[in-house]
This record gives sequence, C-alpha cells and structure tokens, in this order.
Amino acid sequence: MKVAVLISGRGSNLQALIDAQIKTGAEIVLVISSVEGAQGLERAAKAGIPTIVINHKDFDGRQPFDAAMTDAIEAGGADFVCLAGFMRILSDDFIAHWRNRLINIHPSLLPAYKGLNVQQRVLDAGEAQAGCTVHFVRPEMDTGPIIAQAKVPVMADDDAGSLAERILEQEHVIYPEALRLIAEGRVRIENERVLIDGAATDAPDNFA
Ligand code: GRF
Repeated sequence: MKVAVLISGRGSNLQALIDAQIKTGAEIVLVISSVEGAQGLERAAKAGIPTIVINHKDFDGRQPFDAAMTDAIEAGGADFVCLAGFMRILSDDFIAHWRNRLINIHPSLLPAYKGLNVQQRVLDAGEAQAGCTVHFVRPEMDTGPIIAQAKVPVMADDDAGSLAERILEQEHVIYPEALRLIAEGRVRIENERVLIDGAATDAPDNFA
C-alpha cells in the first residue's frame, strides 16, 4: 500500500508511521504539509520521502486547495491518505473522493471530545481517563468508523501538556497498528462500523 501523509506541524505521528513502514507494509510515498517550515517536513526529508507544501492561501477557496492535494497525492503514486496533525478542514468532495482510503488520528476517545483543545477540556470535565482514536474520515469533523482506540489514565497532577504527552505515546502505537491492519486487508466497514478479521484472536486489547 502506498500512502500519502498530510501534516501541518510537528509530525511525531508521521515519524511513527515512517519508523513502522516495514512492519505496517504501508510505504509512505509523499508528505504534504499545509504549513511551510513544519517540523514534519524535515522528518520526511531525512527519511528520503518526497515532500510538498500546499498552502491554502495560494488557492481561491477550499475546493481548489483540496483538488490540488488530490492531484499531488495521485501524482505521487499514493492510493491511501493518513491525516497526522493536519489542521485544515477538508471539503466534502475530497472526503468523498478518498472515502474509506482516508484515516485520521484524534487525541480523544471519540465520539467524546471532538474538535480542538481536547486535553484541557478533558481536565476541566474531571475525567478519570483519556485516550486516542484512529478512524476513517467522514464529512462531519472527527466522525467516522473507528479502527483503533487506546486509553490512558488522567493523573491528579496533570496539566494539558502532560496529558497530551501520555496520549501521544499511545497515538504512536495505535496509528501504525491501525495502518498495518488496513495494509494487510483485514479491515472492513459494514454499516459504518469497522470489522477486523482475526481481531478476537491476535489483536491487542486496545483494538476494537
Ligand atoms: C496529535 O495529537 C493528533 O492526534 C492530532 O494532532 C496532533 C499531531 O501531532 N490530530 P503530531 O504533529 O503528529 O506530532
């Protein structure tokens, strides 16, 4: 499977996917950043992966921006797309074009805590646990069939930063794992729910 990864910043999840390429069987053939100078671009370059910056400001609206991304992804030879800290909202056309070939990682136990500033909201609500989710992308933000989730405890002395770090560690585990399951052809979607072949026997507890 040939994958394009879309980023806007640090790219630590991109790094996890790069490091796991042999294990996942998902080769990263292109990294697109919506932000010039994003740290993830350096990570890609270091790994010898082609990069492009596509800045929404150079386009007249979301649709031409997304069309340019689809063109770049296809020209780069990718047939699957991973969002990894990509901070632009995607058009319905883009999401439809890549339906079931487009996944995202989000730092909460979806469907709880969609959107931004998740860790602070989790702390403010007094939750005892937090986590992360890998899911197929659907037009409504942070929705779509869930492939994998991991839980972490919320500690009494956590601030948003320490909680984010604990969640991020798990993100770096479940994102490559989810991609591996997809690359192995073990993930099916039925009635908008994910079914994983062999999940009951050999998947870790964290996996749905
Ligand atoms: C991660 O917390 C991810 O869940 C969210 O954005 C953050 C990206 O971090 N979608 P990084 O750029 O992968 O380090």
